[in-house]
Amino acid sequence: MHKYTFILIFLISLFSTGDLYARNQYKFSKGTIVYRTPKRAAGQSDMVGFAAEPIERVRVGFIGLGMRGPGAVRRWANIEGTQVVALCDIERAGIEKSQKYLTAAGREPAAEYYGSEEAWKELCQRDDIDLVYIMTDWVNHVPMAIYAMEHGKHVAIEVPAAMTMEDIWRLIDTSERTRKHCIQLENCVYDFFELTTLNMAQQGLFGEILHVEGAYIHCLEEYWDKYYKNWRLLFNRDNRGDVYPTHGIGPICQVLNIHRGDRMKMLVAMDTKCVMGAKYWEDMKGEKVDNFQNGDQTTTLIRTENGKVIQLHHNVMTPRPYSRDYALVGTQGYATKYPIQGYLLGKQAQGEADIENLNTHRFVPDSIKKELMERYKHPIAVQIEEQARRVGGHGGMDYIMDYRLVYCLRNGLPLDMDVYDLAEWCCPIELSAVSIRHNSAPVAIPDFTRGAWNRVKGYRHAVKGFK
Ligand SMILES: NC(=O)c1ccc[n+]([C@@H]2O[C@H](COP(=O)([O-])OP(=O)(O)OC[C@H]3O[C@@H](n4cnc5c(N)ncnc54)[C@H](O)[C@@H]3O)[C@@H](O)[C@H]2O)c1
Repeated sequence: MHKYTFILIFLISLFSTGDLYARNQYKFSKGTIVYRTPKRAAGQSDMVGFAAEPIERVRVGFIGLGMRGPGAVRRWANIEGTQVVALCDIERAGIEKSQKYLTAAGREPAAEYYGSEEAWKELCQRDDIDLVYIMTDWVNHVPMAIYAMEHGKHVAIEVPAAMTMEDIWRLIDTSERTRKHCIQLENCVYDFFELTTLNMAQQGLFGEILHVEGAYIHCLEEYWDKYYKNWRLLFNRDNRGDVYPTHGIGPICQVLNIHRGDRMKMLVAMDTKCVMGAKYWEDMKGEKVDNFQNGDQTTTLIRTENGKVIQLHHNVMTPRPYSRDYALVGTQGYATKYPIQGYLLGKQAQGEADIENLNTHRFVPDSIKKELMERYKHPIAVQIEEQARRVGGHGGMDYIMDYRLVYCLRNGLPLDMDVYDLAEWCCPIELSAVSIRHNSAPVAIPDFTRGAWNRVKGYRHAVKGFK
């Protein structure tokens, strides 16, 4: 073949895979899709266990004040040791709402940035902000976070923080290079049942946890047209895979000690065809879409280095009761949150072995469950539950998330979630899509710590005075 013809064919094949994600980032090796792991730059080191200098009063700037944003401003206005310095959105409505929350809490009004898609840059350039808190649509998260870190700020980003592998690595590299915290605001790891059950799991009540389940099952029918310029349905229209895995995967990864003694090693995924997504689009836009990408239900399975399995579901399209699944299957017990909260511990077979009786293993009675939940209430919940429930935010978990972020920053402690948690909880987005595109092929999951996943043994929340 002529040299130039070969080069032409190579270039065409490179740019015509039809894959939205950065092309040529992966290759097949012995039947498994393997992604390239970018080399860590010389002089850069990992952020495992990273703690910044203590910040006496945490000065924060918020970007993105739509449905989610003003509630965060209200929570921060109710946390000691904080100052809300600046607020930014393209439109002013969310800023006004947030200012009212500040006034109601007896705080000074914050500086305002609005009226342009780039106003957030001015917020990031201020020299009186420690943390930039980002709550915009998904595709804006990463450029904003990188710019903020490069301007000397820690960043906290709403879920999912990053939608592609390329963006995940950009966040990791920027955080490692600038030595700034870069975390994802995953609130569901702070819900009361999850915190208590994590404590029970850490104290060995379920034996060795072998299998865990998580999900985001939430029919968004009544919300689709509420998002700014319909960004959410637009992303689902254009992308296959589990595009919202973090609420499901976050709490169960903490139970499995992911990158604290274990790591996610490989994934396979499958989706149903799309029926409802295309219908919502048509209802909303009045135009037919015949290539809507996101399946109505997507299922992902992940195997870990230590032989555990994670099962994830994503369904925001069909009518189902809300669920994040949250199930732990251990050698000595079982816990689940949806549709009913329950624990099964040790031997609870009732009566003689009887193959006709399908009811032999049951949840502990409600009185025992209550007692267990009181006895194993997580120390963070013991400390902050009342205030969290009073201020609220998804029943209190949002408040605990912000409270812990502020507590760790003020005390110079490692944060509860780091940039590698962000990476691990977001990576199923692209990796599930790529598996599905290749007939549910296995995909190897990179070690985002680049060699440090086994250095810390066991997940824990940092507490002042304890090493
Ligand atoms: N953790 C949770 O429980 C939870 C719940 C809801 C939403 N979220 C996440 O929060 C984020 C926001 O969701 P939402 O429901 O508030 O969406 P939304 O569409 O209501 O709000 C997004 C806001 O970002 C603003 N924005 C967009 N581009 C901007 C720019 N260039 N500069 C400044 N502002 C800009 C928009 O004007 C809008 O006000 C998403 O990442 C979402 O996934 C998380």
